[in-house]
Parts: sequence; C-alpha cells; structure tokens
Amino acid sequence: MTTRRLVLTRSAAVIGAASTGLLLPEIVRAQSDKVRVGFMLPYTGTFAQLGVAIENGFRMALNEQGGKLGGREVEFFKVDDESNPAKGIENATRLVQRDKVDVLVGTVHSGVQMGIHKVARDSGVLSLIPNAGVHVATRAQCAPNVFRTSFSNSQPTLALGKAMMERGHKKAVWITWNYAAGDEAFEGFEKSYTEAGGTIIKKLGLPFPNVEFQALLTEIASLNPDAVACFFAGGGAAKFLRDFAAAGLNKNIQLYGSGFLTEGVLDAAGDAANGVLTTMHYSDALDTPRNKKFRLDYAKTFRLQPDVYAVQGYDTGLLLIKGANAVKGDLSNKQALYAAMNGAEIDSPRGKWKMSAAHNPIQDMYLRKVENKENKVIGIAAKAVADPATGCRMG
Ligand code: PHB
Repeated sequence: MTTRRLVLTRSAAVIGAASTGLLLPEIVRAQSDKVRVGFMLPYTGTFAQLGVAIENGFRMALNEQGGKLGGREVEFFKVDDESNPAKGIENATRLVQRDKVDVLVGTVHSGVQMGIHKVARDSGVLSLIPNAGVHVATRAQCAPNVFRTSFSNSQPTLALGKAMMERGHKKAVWITWNYAAGDEAFEGFEKSYTEAGGTIIKKLGLPFPNVEFQALLTEIASLNPDAVACFFAGGGAAKFLRDFAAAGLNKNIQLYGSGFLTEGVLDAAGDAANGVLTTMHYSDALDTPRNKKFRLDYAKTFRLQPDVYAVQGYDTGLLLIKGANAVKGDLSNKQALYAAMNGAEIDSPRGKWKMSAAHNPIQDMYLRKVENKENKVIGIAAKAVADPATGCRMG
C-alpha cells in the first residue's frame, strides 16, 4: 500500500523536477511502470467486513500471478467510502484525479456505486464493481468501461419465490432497508413469488443502516405469515437474525432471504441463523476442487473464512488479470482490454460464469440452508440467471 505521505512526496518530486526541467521523463516513466489500482470500499460501518473481504479476495487473485497484472507491478490506493452515498462522487474523484488510478475497484453499497458510476462514465476510467447490485449500472446506464463481477440486485431473489412455494409457504411478509438494494431485491422477490402463486401480505422497511427492528418484528408476529423474506447484509444482517430469533419468530415462521443475510455473519449470529434458507450465487459448501482450494488458500492467507464477498473480490481480480494479460499490461489499449473482458468466462470458486453483453455475470443461483455455521447447498434454485439488461446500449 502506498501511504498518502509517499504519494505526496512523489508528486512533490515531480513538481520539483518539472520546475528545474531535469529528470522529468525518467520520473514519469517510473511512475507509469506500475498499474494503479484504487480500492473504494467500506472499511467502517455495517459493511466494513464486506470491504475487507473484497480487498482480500482481489489481492489473493493477484498474488497468484506473483502480484502482477499483465507483467506489471501494482500499486494500491485506498479510500474508505463509509457506505455513504453523499460522499460517493467526491471519493471516486479523489482516486481518479489525485491518485490517477488506472482502475477503480468498488464498491459494496448501491447508492455509493452511483457516485462511482458517474465519475467512471465522465472520466472513462475502468470501473470494476465487486458487489453493489444497482440495476441501472448494467441496464440503462451500462458502459463499455464498467464491468460487474457480482450480481444485479434482483438476481438472487429471482430464484427465491419458487423455493418458498415448493415448501408450502404461500403467504409472506417482505422486510428490508429502504434503498436501491432493498427495493431492487424486492423486485426479484415479487416477480418470482407471485409468479409461483405466493401472496405478499405486507412490505416492511426501515432506513439504511438502521437496526432498530423491534417494532417491525412485533408487527410481523401479529401478521402471522407462513414466511418472512428479506434483504439485509453485513452487521445489520447479523443483528436481524439474532433479533428475529430472540423474538421467538423462528419457531413458527420460516425465514428466507437473498443469501447476503447469512454471508460473513454466521459466527456473530450463532444458533439464531440455523435453518435459515437463502438463494445466492455461492455457497461455502460447494464440493468442487476449485472452491475447496480457494477456501483453504484464503483461510491460510487471511486467517478468516471466505464468504461471497471474498469470492466476488477474487473474481474481480481474475477478470482484470484476463484483461491485463490480453493487452500485456498496457491498460491504455482500451479496445482490446474491454474486448477481452467482454464475454469472458471466469473459472470462479462459485462455479464457472460468463460476463453478459451488459457486463453482469450470467450465473447459477444455489438454494442454501444454514447448518452449524455453514451455508450448506440444497441444490441449484435457478440455472444461468441473467439480468434482463433493460435499456442497455453499449456506446
Ligand atoms: C448493495 O447496496 O447493492 C448491496 C449491499 C450489500 C450486499 C448486497 C448489495 O450484500
């Protein structure tokens, strides 16, 4: 990691050299020798662990290449975006203008992503989305320089409705944070559940990142649905699982969610998570050599169990490696770079997936059940799920 002081010292050197007219070409060449990667991720707040897992996964992919991208060394720059949409544009601009990154890797929160997206579209800098599922980024505002390696917000929940109905859960309450990720996850849930014949008896919500669930849980108890379906993630998800169980709701009401509900939180949630059913493009328990090796290497390197966020970070690294190798490290050769990433097949721990024409993964969704602090696979809930990419026209 380059510290801020180092960056400042170096720019001062460049300015100094410029004013004397000496050494400048050499310094400029030395600078451009390294690929500049900017992480814009949450390192504080309810999504802090998600940011760390993404960065770890990304670094792991590069480390498998000797730490290089297309033969070039890599220099990292970091900004804590705090999952604060109000600072999204400013933080992304800092990485692009001050740190002159060649590629932006970020972020988790859909609202913050919109800030990155504006900066990416205005500046043309390569933008890799390792999580945030905001629809518009790969629909009406899709762009040649923006690639998502994670999911669109409605992809996981599009697989949920049928699984719920197959288990006889015909009346459900939906609950989430009221912001793009929750609203768009609802879109997928509403479609899949009503098409399968289910009835949504109430939609409940609270502002992000609030975790005062008590009044809403009381309301759920009085509505007495067959099931509750939700979108929560990170620290807030752990608290929701604990509060749902502490209120005794897990005894009579089956809890479902998009799989983020049970990612990275199983230690924190403890027994409260047992039996929760979710749909997601990854499971800890995928019994493939690829996943087993990934999990072992990650655990050895970081002394942490990987989760879906670590996988998405890793896949972001794999995608960039593919692109960088195709242009032998010359990321300014954008046409060839994007061509290599467009339609790429990624051999991921989640299973192989393909990048769609709108730059979003086409991927299987697994049905999972939490057992003994693990997301066990029950089966494939939906195969090769693609986002509809409504309104995407690549410029
Ligand atoms: C999002 O804001 O897009 C988001 C955040 C956390 C998740 C999934 C989606 O786990």
